[in-house]
Amino acid sequence: MAQLTKAEYFPISPLILRPDFKVPFDIFLRHDDSYVLFNASGRTLTKAKRKELALAGIVTIYLDKRSRKLYHSYIQANLIDLLEDESISLAERAQAWTNAASALSQELFETNLPGPAFKKRYVRFQELIHSSTSFLKSPAPLKNLARFIGKGYGTYHHGISTMVYAVNLMQEYKFEDEDVLACGMGALLHDIGQVGMDEELLNADPETMGPAEFQAYAMHPLIGVRVCANFDLPVIATNCILFHHERVDGKGYPTQATGEEIPLPTRVVALCNRYDGLTRNRPYSRAIKPFDALKALTDDKGLVEPDMIKRFIKLLSRAEIV
Ligand SMILES: [Fe+2]
Repeated sequence: MAQLTKAEYFPISPLILRPDFKVPFDIFLRHDDSYVLFNASGRTLTKAKRKELALAGIVTIYLDKRSRKLYHSYIQANLIDLLEDESISLAERAQAWTNAASALSQELFETNLPGPAFKKRYVRFQELIHSSTSFLKSPAPLKNLARFIGKGYGTYHHGISTMVYAVNLMQEYKFEDEDVLACGMGALLHDIGQVGMDEELLNADPETMGPAEFQAYAMHPLIGVRVCANFDLPVIATNCILFHHERVDGKGYPTQATGEEIPLPTRVVALCNRYDGLTRNRPYSRAIKPFDALKALTDDKGLVEPDMIKRFIKLLSRAEIV
């Protein structure tokens, strides 16, 4: 076997691999600075082998970077079965989903924008969400998902979280699946216009920025729409990107639209964005508890209509998040 350097491997979670199924790529374990073959391509990863990893406290396994394509097709083909496999605990399935979504969306957010690779990765992520919608919108998985999606500083972490809440809240309004998916993709990409912005600006609190800084920061919804303009994003998704900082009291940006001028799926994203922002550690603020975040949202009369907040609270209560 050729000796590969550290840079030629990428980490994944073992939970993402379906037990008792053949794996089409080599799996390695890391020992200090070397990588040791654990499961050869084409061999079945048995439950016993997965358990062996868990007992040894191994939470990261490695694949050769040349296997990346195979790995993505594997996720696509197997994730939905894994999510429906009741022999795997809900917490493990929720973590597997989060790992898959994080890997795909990290790639999406790190792609040079705009470009053909972005479109390809967008479609791949869309397929992932499409195939896992029924898992995402059930209260029990949502409760488990909430434990995993609330972590991480990356724009893509916040995007995934906002998407999961938005998909669930859209269900409360009985939208067609196609519209739920479009809103979910808009939620995922709502801050895509921040990619490439100055790190210092993104680490600052928008509420205490000076006017010039805020003006630069407030461009991100417009930049987001511009970078996505060269491929056919559904109108619902584009609206979510463009208007996710609008408020029904007209004090948002960039257009100061009011009330129902802001489409409902966009108000859903505005609310979920705010909730995730409050409950996630940010460079400029500490996370607050779900209950306190919901109280802050209830007190903030002008973000979205009270009925939407009520539905959101009901949804989170059903999933036992609050
Ligand atoms: Fe934003």
